[in-house]
Amino acid sequence: MNTPLRVALLGLGTVGSGTFTVLRNNAAEIERRVGFPIEIKVVADLDTAKARQVAGPEVEVSANAFDVVTRDDIDVVIELIGGYTIAKQLVLAAIEAGKHVVTANKALLAVHGEEIFAAAARKNVMVAFEAAVAGGIPVIKSIKEGLAANQIEYVAGIINGTCNFILSEMRDKGLPFADVLAQAQALGYAEADPTFDIEGIDAAHKITLLSALAFGMPVQFDKAYVEGITKLTKDDITFAEELGYRVKLLGITRRTSEGVELRVHPTMIPAKRLIANVEGVMNAVLVKGNAVGPTLYYGAGAGSLPTASAVVADIIEIARMNAAPIECRTPVLAFRSEAAQAIPMLSIDQVVTAYYLRMQVADRPGVLAEVSTILAKHSISIAAMIQHQPSQEGASAQIVLLTQRCVEGEINQALAKIEALDSVLDKVVRIRVEDLS
Ligand code: NDP
Ligand code: HSE
Repeated sequence: MNTPLRVALLGLGTVGSGTFTVLRNNAAEIERRVGFPIEIKVVADLDTAKARQVAGPEVEVSANAFDVVTRDDIDVVIELIGGYTIAKQLVLAAIEAGKHVVTANKALLAVHGEEIFAAAARKNVMVAFEAAVAGGIPVIKSIKEGLAANQIEYVAGIINGTCNFILSEMRDKGLPFADVLAQAQALGYAEADPTFDIEGIDAAHKITLLSALAFGMPVQFDKAYVEGITKLTKDDITFAEELGYRVKLLGITRRTSEGVELRVHPTMIPAKRLIANVEGVMNAVLVKGNAVGPTLYYGAGAGSLPTASAVVADIIEIARMNAAPIECRTPVLAFRSEAAQAIPMLSIDQVVTAYYLRMQVADRPGVLAEVSTILAKHSISIAAMIQHQPSQEGASAQIVLLTQRCVEGEINQALAKIEALDSVLDKVVRIRVEDLS
C-alpha cells in the first residue's frame, strides 16, 4: 500500500539539482498528497563527483545513464540532460523498458515528439513535460485540463526567460546585450547553446508544443516561423515606448479559418496590457478560449527550483495515475491521439498583423508622400507616425510608421518597393505589432 514510486534522475545540472532538492525538501508534503513516498533510487551524471555533492551519501550515483534507464527497480525516468542525441536514446530506451518518462527537454519533444509519444503509446507509459514550457508555470496542465471545455482561439506567450531578461535589462538599465546574456548564462537560465534562446529557437520549440496541445494536431516544429532578438536596437525599443508599446519576444499560435499560425518574433504590445509588463526572467502565457475568454498564466520561466516545481508536479501526476486504468489518463497532447487533426499550417506570408516600420530617409520634401503612396497601393493604412527633427542640417531623417493590420505578403511587396526608392537610405526595420485585446 505504501510502496514508493522509484525514480531515476538523469542529469544533475541546474534543473536536475533543483529537482533533487524539491523532492528531498518537500518529501513529507508530497507524500501527504500522493499517499506513498517518491524515492530517488539513483542519479546519473557524467560528473559523478558533482552528482555525489548534490545527492549526498545515501543515494546511488551512476556515471552511466544507459544502465539506469532499463533497471527493474525504476518506475520513472527523469531526463534532465538536454539536447537531441543522448537524451532521445535514453528516453526511447526507458520507454522501451516500460518506464514512465518526465522531461524538461522542449527541443527533444518539439523535434522528435511524435516518435516519442508513439513509442510511449505502444508501451502504455506516460510522458510528461510540464517543465518544457514556461518553466514553473503549469500552463500545459491548464491547457490540457483546466481549459478542456474550450475551443482554443490563440496562445501568445513570453516563453523565453533569457530573452525577456535581456530585453528588460536593456530597456531599464541600458545595459549592452552581450553583458546581460552573460548574466543569464551565469544564472542558469540560458540553454547550453544560448543561440537557441536569442535566435528564438527555444521559444519556437515551446510554442510548437503549445500549438499541438491547444489545437489537437501533431507537433510540427518545422512549420514554425522563427525570428530572434539579436537585430533589435535601442532605437526601436525607445520608439516603441514613445508610441505606447513594449517590445517582447512572443511565441504566437492562432487558429484562423484558413489554418494555424505558428510564429516567434519580437513583437510590439500595447504597454497597458498585463503581458507587456512581464519583466526579467518571468514568463507569461495568454490563452484565449471561446468559452472562458482570455486567461493569463504568469511565473518564473527558468531557473533551478521553479523548473523543478514543474518536473516534480509531473512525477506526482504519474504517481497518482500509475495504478489507474489507462483510459483515466489525460492524453499526452490533450486530445485523444486518434482524433489528432492535420490542420493546414499558414506560412508567415499569410499571417495578418500590424507593423512598426522604421526607415532612414533623405531629409527632403515629398519622401513621406512617396512612402505612403506605395503603402496605399497595397491597401495598407497608416495608424501613427513619428518623425524627429534631424540632428543637424542636411542629415538624414528617421521616419517611424505604425500600420493597420494587413497580410504579411502584402507588406513584403510594399517594403521591396519602398527600399528601392532613392530617398530611402537603408533596409526598413520592421517589427510586428499585436494588440492582444
Ligand atoms: P545543465 O547543463 O545545467 O544540466 C545538464 C546535466 O546533464 C549536466 O550536469 C551534465 O553534466 C549532465 N549530462 C550531460 N550528459 C550526460 C549523460 N550522458 N549522462 C548523464 N548526465 C549527463 O542543463 P539544465 O539543467 O539547464 O537543463 C536540462 C534540461 O532542462 C534541458 O533540456 C533544458 O532545455 C531544460 N530546461 C532548463 C531550464 C533552465 O532554467 N535551466 C528551464 C526549463 C527547461 P556535465 O555538466 O558534466 O556535462
Ligand atoms: N533557456 C530557457 C529560457 C530555459 O531562458 O527560457 C527555460 O526553458
